[in-house]
Amino acid sequence: MAEIIAGYASSHVPAIGVAIDQGKTGENYWQPVFAGYEASRKWIAEQNPDVIIMVYNDHATAFSLEMIPTFALGCAAEFAIADEGWGPRPVPKVVGHPELAWHIAQSVILDEFDLTIVNQMEVDHGLTVPLSLAFGQPEAWPCPVIPLAVNVVQYPPPTGHRCLQLGRAIRKAVASFGPDLKVVIFGTGGMSHQLQAERAGLINADFDNRFLDLLVNDPEAAAAIPHVDYLREAGSEGIELVMWLVMRGALSPDVRQIHRHYHVPASNTAVGHLVLENQPA
Ligand code: DHB
Ligand code: FE
Repeated sequence: MAEIIAGYASSHVPAIGVAIDQGKTGENYWQPVFAGYEASRKWIAEQNPDVIIMVYNDHATAFSLEMIPTFALGCAAEFAIADEGWGPRPVPKVVGHPELAWHIAQSVILDEFDLTIVNQMEVDHGLTVPLSLAFGQPEAWPCPVIPLAVNVVQYPPPTGHRCLQLGRAIRKAVASFGPDLKVVIFGTGGMSHQLQAERAGLINADFDNRFLDLLVNDPEAAAAIPHVDYLREAGSEGIELVMWLVMRGALSPDVRQIHRHYHVPASNTAVGHLVLENQPA
């Protein structure tokens, strides 16, 4: 049977992608950001997952105000890299896993989560930057990726609790898929940041570290954080963190923290990174 073996959470700051693409990762500004990803690069290469489920958000790239799905599952065979204004990033196309994606859609929708099914979608920095952090600059990504786009751009986003519950439904879906597949689920975005208006540049390391602690040890408490607290404490874009709760919900109640990294700043954003392995019940 297929199995989710671990979760990988990471910020998706677009400037990180630019630093990788332009060979700047060793510069003084960037070195401490990337140093925190070396251990997890080795870890994921050793795990050698068969499929990644990538919980991420689209930044008005594939979707716009014309259409705002709360949860959109990519069921296509491949996903092109979006042009976000400077040309598409020079990274491989994303190959999907339609069989597992459709199985997840069926299982989760019959479990009463009303996902949008997407058969054509370009993917932006929200998806490609975490892949680059995990795998560097390969000719092709080492495994298929199933994108799960979460609306955190236009109010109202889903609640943290809903995200945690969806993760649990995804775990059940994967566990009922016949072929033996090792799956790693990514939760991306965050941490505290605000890109506009009077509080642009806001970063809150206390909130971020508390969130990391809760996510590992008390996910129900993390899921109970209301939208207004993210806004107040973590800035207008801090709400991206609800996506980490989908990842956490897809893991066992107790997890083993394999790796944790926190660094301020990267561009306008606090960078956080966690690797959590499932523990047997
Ligand atoms: C930045 C961070 C984001 O999450 C994003 O989507 C765009 C920009 C930033 O820090 O610059
Ligand atoms: Fe973002």
